[in-house]
Amino acid sequence: MPHTISRRSFIEATGALAATLTTTASATSPVQSTAAQLKGQPLPGGVRLPATPPRRKRDDSVGIAIIGLGGYALNQIMPRIDHAERMHIAALVSGNPAKLAQVGDAYGVPTDARYSYADFDRIVADDRIQAVYVILPTAFHADFTIRAFAAGKHVLCEKPMALSSTECEAMIAAGRRANRKLMIAYRCHFEPYNVEAMRLMREKAVGTIRLIRTDQSYRAGPTTPAQNWRFNRALAGGGPLEDYGIYGLQSALYLSGEMPESISAATFQPKGDPRFAEIFAHVATQLTFPSGAVAQLATSYDAAGANLAQVRGTDGTLIIDPATGYAGHRMRIEGRDARDFTPGDPTTQFAAQLNHFANAIRDDTPILTGGEMGLRDIRLIEAIYASAREGRTVKLAPDGRMRG
Ligand SMILES: NC(=O)c1ccc[n+]([C@@H]2O[C@H](COP(=O)([O-])OP(=O)(O)OC[C@H]3O[C@@H](n4cnc5c(N)ncnc54)[C@H](OP(=O)(O)O)[C@@H]3O)[C@@H](O)[C@H]2O)c1
Repeated sequence: MPHTISRRSFIEATGALAATLTTTASATSPVQSTAAQLKGQPLPGGVRLPATPPRRKRDDSVGIAIIGLGGYALNQIMPRIDHAERMHIAALVSGNPAKLAQVGDAYGVPTDARYSYADFDRIVADDRIQAVYVILPTAFHADFTIRAFAAGKHVLCEKPMALSSTECEAMIAAGRRANRKLMIAYRCHFEPYNVEAMRLMREKAVGTIRLIRTDQSYRAGPTTPAQNWRFNRALAGGGPLEDYGIYGLQSALYLSGEMPESISAATFQPKGDPRFAEIFAHVATQLTFPSGAVAQLATSYDAAGANLAQVRGTDGTLIIDPATGYAGHRMRIEGRDARDFTPGDPTTQFAAQLNHFANAIRDDTPILTGGEMGLRDIRLIEAIYASAREGRTVKLAPDGRMRG
């Protein structure tokens, strides 16, 4: 049975993974959380389903199974798959049968290509599916990635890659064993403003980089860990850093072009606020790079909205504000060579990301945002929490592992 094989291979690959997860949770917070459980959800508000099912565009189009019909899948990704030349929706996986039927009908997905979480492993026998897109709460990323690889499918997995570096390593190993592609859905690498910013920084448009600042914050409404998975440690990890701050962390790395050699950080978990019973309200981090450049990253679920990336060099300052959203980016350089930039339509990032994955599968081309990048970031997040917990600067190896 594929299910048995994949579960066994998962456990073999991860060793005492359950124990590791418990340790990680208790290491980052004094509060223990309940175990993560798959649970179908209602159709999110504001979803506009297609009036007519989208059509497959090419013979060599990659058939993808969407796992998890939540807000991001239904509002952002599924409508954009129609814009991706080489991909089509081949199957759906959901824990809510009524929503599965409604969405399946709207997208023209055959009834025998609609799966529950329990019968997901049957995709091994479904040749219409070449790849899966994991769009579930973080706690389930590793399990479904490893099960998809066991079924011989390629995997596009949402950020953050997983709850721990142990899980990330198991996902990468499973992909290698299956000889299948693993991509982490870091869409900013395909978004015209961020791509242009990377090019400008490589060309030293602000001179030598000295200081980087990123800020990814919003103020969450009243909620509890039981009502919203993003506030539930077992499902989401430590909170805003994994969910939103990861964009600032990514920006600091791809704009500087460096890996940090040390990290110091502070976390804040206010008492008596149900939103933060299990997760942190904010995380502030300082990265020091080998060049001497320093990045200061702030992320919060309890501060007024911000989505900023700023790079201050010897000759000027690059400002992207907003920096990493779905649309509405603004970018300028202030200083010696001041100018504004409008490099393209940010909404093309979705189709560009999907086509990159499809091309990697069909043409065997390298993936820009592979599992190693996701693992690197989770290692850095673990180092951030270790620094905050232990009140010390953490030194890093070039691959992001903590030294000592
Ligand atoms: N790249 C980006 O810009 C971006 C933006 C937003 C989110 N994301 C990522 O996408 C993933 C999903 O986020 P989302 O915003 O779509 O979340 P969401 O709206 O809450 O949807 C999550 C879906 O996961 C399924 N699910 C299974 N067990 C669940 C449980 N115990 N609690 C909640 N949901 C459960 C449900 O689908 P069914 O009802 O079909 O079973 C649910 O609708 C996360 O990894 C997130 O980080 C990425």
